[in-house]
Amino acid sequence: MDETRLMYWLIKLHEGLARLGPGHAEATGRAFASCTALPAQPGILDIGCGAGAQTLDLARLTSGALTAVDRVHGFLLDLRERAHARGLSARIHPVVADMRQLPFPAAAFDLIWSEGAIYIMGFDAGLASWRALLRARGYLVVSELSWLTDHPPPDLADFWREHYPAMRQVADNLASARALGWEPIDHFSLPHAHWMLDYLGPLQSRLATFRATHANDPEAQAVADLTEQEIAIMANAAGICGYVFYVLRRAD
Ligand SMILES: C[S@@+](CC[C@H](N)C(=O)[O-])C[C@H]1O[C@@H](n2cnc3c(N)ncnc32)[C@H](O)[C@@H]1O
Repeated sequence: MDETRLMYWLIKLHEGLARLGPGHAEATGRAFASCTALPAQPGILDIGCGAGAQTLDLARLTSGALTAVDRVHGFLLDLRERAHARGLSARIHPVVADMRQLPFPAAAFDLIWSEGAIYIMGFDAGLASWRALLRARGYLVVSELSWLTDHPPPDLADFWREHYPAMRQVADNLASARALGWEPIDHFSLPHAHWMLDYLGPLQSRLATFRATHANDPEAQAVADLTEQEIAIMANAAGICGYVFYVLRRAD
């Protein structure tokens, strides 16, 4: 299955979910609290925002304006509806764009945020290309699947070697961030329970319906198989690998 078809089925599988990747309001709040030198009303860019779980959390944490970017128009429509229902739509501006070619001028934002999405272009490539969009000493917060140990068990090592070979240890990501002109301010792991309960749990509960709806489509079944495999493998991944929040600041 090529990447476009995989993306198509992943979008179908995630349609209507509040959260399209691992995350939790507490983690978003903790990372935001580390950005202590923001202006009173920061300009924030949320890249790969999906249906905007963290965009809405950020809008509640600040009185600044948020530009929320995703490549999938349907996810942005969900965000628009949710923002409207919460009275936040005046401060949230959804934009359809590719994270590799963002249509914003240099130094346009005080804070760039990206939960569970930088892997799409790669941790280093994202850190390098998004830097120019920040004002001097601006902040970047990204969450990225990272190894938490030197010696993962073979089943986890094999699974991720196949599906995300670019995954690195936390120390390696921090070293890379420094080399690319960032000052690491804080980093912490998303608690394993949050990953399971708030993302993989809701995903799992819709798999049976997804399989039944697309019973005659081998690609859909393959995506469901892969998702089930990931859920099973991640159930035993606490302390071995997980999403890590990296709070970085432009080292000008
Ligand atoms: C794992 S989801 C995370 C979404 C959201 N941050 C969350 O945690 O719920 C990754 C998001 O990146 C978006 N995406 C994929 N490729 C993209 C691209 N090239 N440019 C912008 N967004 C992209 C997907 O549509 C999806 O919404």
